[in-house]
Amino acid sequence: MKILVVGKGGREHALVSTLAESPAKPELFCFPGSDAIFEIAKPTSATDLESLIAWMLAHSIDLCVAGEESYLIKGEGLANLCAQNGIPCWGPPKESAQLEASKEFAKNFLLRHGIPTARAIATETLEAAMLAIDGQYPTVLKYDGLAAGKGVAVCPDEESASAFLDEVFTRRRFGPGRVLVEECLTGPEVSIFAAIVDDQYLVFAPARDYKRALDGDLGPNTGGMGAVASRSLIPPDVMASIEKDIVQPTLAGLRNDGLPYRGFLYFGLMLTPTGPQVIEYNCRFGDPECQAVMPLVQGDLASFCLAGATGSLRRDLLSFHDGWSVCVVLASAGYPESSRAGDLISDLTLPENARIYHSGTRKMSDHSWETHGGRVLAVVAQADTREAAACRAHAAADLIRFDGLQRRHDIGILNFD
Ligand code: AMP
Ligand code: GLY
Repeated sequence: MKILVVGKGGREHALVSTLAESPAKPELFCFPGSDAIFEIAKPTSATDLESLIAWMLAHSIDLCVAGEESYLIKGEGLANLCAQNGIPCWGPPKESAQLEASKEFAKNFLLRHGIPTARAIATETLEAAMLAIDGQYPTVLKYDGLAAGKGVAVCPDEESASAFLDEVFTRRRFGPGRVLVEECLTGPEVSIFAAIVDDQYLVFAPARDYKRALDGDLGPNTGGMGAVASRSLIPPDVMASIEKDIVQPTLAGLRNDGLPYRGFLYFGLMLTPTGPQVIEYNCRFGDPECQAVMPLVQGDLASFCLAGATGSLRRDLLSFHDGWSVCVVLASAGYPESSRAGDLISDLTLPENARIYHSGTRKMSDHSWETHGGRVLAVVAQADTREAAACRAHAAADLIRFDGLQRRHDIGILNFD
């Protein structure tokens, strides 16, 4: 079995590692990949989406796994091009990936299908947005497009709202686009990942992302400074209501709207006092949640994804470890505002009870590693309890050093419930 994974970050490093451990023993390739990923998956000669399709055809690739979202909506769309060329793809077509690419599309989908979500108004100018806010703070402002995690602002007051609207409408920081003015929800957040194959689904171990840069959940929002994952993260009755009120209606909505879906779907939820509500959909696994969840996956992920991409949900191929997984992200100096590269990373040998996934590293000619991005590494460990898994992950993370290293010391320890 030949599998090509699309992406280059820590999420794809975790996916490729888990695929490599599958009993099916697939031959793995990655585009665009990274030095760390290329230790387990081979590079391609492709330079863009079109040449990637030609490369996959020439190399008889059996399955394309979409790790990163951007390719799903680029050009004609990764999954669409795969379908046109008879390549099974684990990842949805462009029309369905609008659930992630357009916040307005997602909001309309949620409202149309009666799925619980915050009320929102779409606006096209700064003045219209201020009118929609109508003096109600805190408010949530969302740029309607892909903005690398920077397009959402939870604004406590008029000053912060004006500043964000100025960035979007006056400075056009993210390009042209509208802004959703959304009701501010409260409660712990949780990420649910489901493998979706047409009208069937399998929920993976739920996870929680630590989005803020600093301990105590302070500081600016980031792509994620760490994560915890466990089947025990959410009580069974809450999980049952998430499946009944959110996951199943989402699948019914996709079917109703004629939106095909085979791949991972990420439900970003807030467990509000009145029940779970959808904050966002992403048409992929989360990063760094994937790094926390993958070590809990047992079975044959490679055969599972191939079967899924060709229309059958093979629940029998996967199971999940009980217990907890904690992922601690090590980021470079200046993250999230800026990203520094070129700092030498100390020896990456870890104890056997921890794993490491690379998000932004480069391998030097003498085989040492240096930093090459905002989030650099994720250190992950498992144990029967959250506390024990956190203790292992932090102890392993303590062994790694580079200039300017930033990390949180409360990942897996600070609880949001
Ligand atoms: P998103 O990019 O949609 O995931 O939003 C980023 C973060 O903003 C979320 O993880 C939440 O912490 C926060 N957020 C988004 N929407 C809301 C909302 N309606 N109410 C409160 N917080 C929100
Ligand atoms: N960790 C959040 C995301 O992957 O979007």
